[in-house]
Order: sequence, then structure tokens, then C-alpha cells
Amino acid sequence: MEIHRYEKIWTVVALLLIVAFIGTVTYGAVGAGVKMVDDSGGTVDPGSLGDTEFADPGVTQVGEDSYEVHVVARQFLFQPGTSEPIRVPANSEVTFYITSADVIHGFELAGTNVNTMAIPGQVAKVTVRFDEPAEYGIVCHEYCGGGHHTMAGQLVVVP
Ligand code: CUA
Repeated sequence: MEIHRYEKIWTVVALLLIVAFIGTVTYGAVGAGVKMVDDSGGTVDPGSLGDTEFADPGVTQVGEDSYEVHVVARQFLFQPGTSEPIRVPANSEVTFYITSADVIHGFELAGTNVNTMAIPGQVAKVTVRFDEPAEYGIVCHEYCGGGHHTMAGQLVVVP
């Protein structure tokens, strides 16, 4: 009698442990899987960016010291960024919304920890404080085709 009861208890404990392990593994995998991509900015149809806030990408002032910058990455340029620099003032808080019009690109402000992927269909949202005037190179760090190594831009933090 006694032995039977302990056996039951331990069987239940063992089963609970197995469920807990599976839960941990599953939860961990999901968590790690989405960490790579900052998709907090939502989604967008890459085929009709012209009907979205990416129609005329650029810098918009949204508060006294705060700005939004919409950036479209495409083979093989940043818009804005490549043909003309992105300009934001010093002592500002800037939220970047970055997406791609074609394939997966990268968006890195060289020398900073600002680094995200630009994925068609997704909007990466990154908020950065710029305290000092500076110039940063913008680098595509995901292989995106034959012109990948030429895909670069510039961000200027003006005094
Ligand atoms: Cu775009 Cu590499």
C-alpha cells in the first residue's frame, strides 16, 4: 500500500518535470527566435510602400527634440542616406523606422550599437539619442546581391 502511493507521487512528479522541461525549451526557442529581428515597428506590404509612411521616406520632426526617420533599404541604396545624408540635429532623440523594398538588408550606424536588419514586410524600429554633432557611416551588413559591398550611406548629426 505505502509503496504504491509513493510510486504514484513520484510518477506524477516525473511527468510534471518533463512537461516543465518541454515548456522551458519551447518558450526559450520562441524567445530566441524573434530576438534577432526588431519587428516592434509592425508590418508593411513591401510591394506597395508608396501607399504607406514609406512613400516619401525621410526625417520628420515629431516633438521639440524628437524626430522620426523612415528609411527604405533597396538594392543597393538607402533612401534617404545614400544619395543624400540623413540629417538630424544634435541633442535629439531619433526613432528610425526601417524596412526593405526587395530583399533582406542590414542597417548599421558604423561605430555605434545601432544595428538592425531591414526585412521586406517588416518595420524595424530603433530609437537613438544623439548628444553630439557627428558623422556616421550607414552600412548594409547582410549580403543582398551583387552590389552589397557598395551599399552604404551617411547620417550627419548637425550642431
Ligand atoms: Cu543591402 Cu547588403
